[in-house]
Amino acid sequence: MTTALITGATAGIGAAFARRLAADGHDVVLVARDLKRLREQATELHDKHGVEAEVLAADLSDEDGIAAVEARLSDPKNPVDVLVNNAGFGNKGRFLEVSMADELKMLTVHCEAVLRLTSAAVAGMRTRGRGGVVNVASVAAFVPRGTYGASKAWVVQFTQGAARDLAGSGVRLMALCPGFVRTEFHERAGMGTDNIPGWMWLDADKLVASALADLNRGKSLSIPDPRYKALMGIVKLAPRGLLGGVSAKAGRSYGPN
Ligand SMILES: NC(=O)c1ccc[n+]([C@@H]2O[C@H](COP(=O)([O-])OP(=O)(O)OC[C@H]3O[C@@H](n4cnc5c(N)ncnc54)[C@H](OP(=O)(O)O)[C@@H]3O)[C@@H](O)[C@H]2O)c1
Repeated sequence: MTTALITGATAGIGAAFARRLAADGHDVVLVARDLKRLREQATELHDKHGVEAEVLAADLSDEDGIAAVEARLSDPKNPVDVLVNNAGFGNKGRFLEVSMADELKMLTVHCEAVLRLTSAAVAGMRTRGRGGVVNVASVAAFVPRGTYGASKAWVVQFTQGAARDLAGSGVRLMALCPGFVRTEFHERAGMGTDNIPGWMWLDADKLVASALADLNRGKSLSIPDPRYKALMGIVKLAPRGLLGGVSAKAGRSYGPN
C-alpha cells in the first residue's frame, strides 16, 4: 500500500486529489487548518474506498504548521510516496491594497512551505528510489499578476529545476498549472467571477485526472486542458505589455466583502 499526503485537502482541487488518490487505493494523509472538516473527509474516504485516512491539522503560514508536516513527511516508519503541495489562496486587492502581513503569508504558504515540504518528502523518496510530487501552481505563473502570479512562477521554476536535478533518481516532480477552477478559492479571496467567461472554467476532478496522467508520463510541467494549452501558447508569443493589461483584469474584480 502506498501513501499520499495532500495539503489543502478539504476543498476544491486538493479535495479532488484526495478523492482520486484514495479511489486509486492510496492511503491518504489530509492536511489543512479546519480539523472538523478534515475528520469528516477522512471518514468519507475511509468508508468509501477502504483506505487509511489520517488527518493533520496544520496552518502552513506558520512555523509550527510547516514543521509538523515536515516531520510527518520525514518519518521513515510511515513513508509518503506521493506529495501534493496544493494549499493556497488569493488575497483581496491589488499591489499596495493588500497588507504586507498578507503578502508575506502568501509567500510563506506558496513558496516556503512548498520548498520545505518538497525537500522533506523527496529526501526519503530518493533513498527509496521512487516517489512523486505535484506542486500546484497556476497559469498565473506565466503572466504579470501581482504577488500571486509571482509566487506561482516561483513554484514552476523551483519544481522544474528540482525535477531536472533529480532526473534518474526514480522521483518525479511536476508543477501543475490550472486555469480557472470552480472551488472555494474566489469566494474566500472576495473575488468577483462575473467577468470570467463560462468556457474558461475547469472541473476539479477532470483537472486532477489529467494532472496524474501527466505525472505518470514523467512531465515536469502540466497545463491540463486544450483550451489552456492553446492560451499559454499565445501568451508565450504575446507582448508583455498587452499580457499585463489583460491579466490585470481577468478574475480580479474584488467585491465589497
Ligand atoms: N481555483 C482556481 O481557479 C485555481 C487556479 C489555479 C491555481 N489554483 C491553486 O490551486 C490550489 C488550491 O486552490 P483551490 O482553488 O482548490 O482553493 P480552495 O477551494 O479555497 O481550497 C484551499 C484549500 O487550502 C487550504 N488552506 C488554505 N490556506 C491554508 C493554510 N494557511 N494552511 C493549510 N491549508 C490551507 C484550505 O483549507 P483550510 O481553510 O481548512 O486550511 C483548503 O483545503 C491553490 O494553490 C491555488 O492557488 C486555483
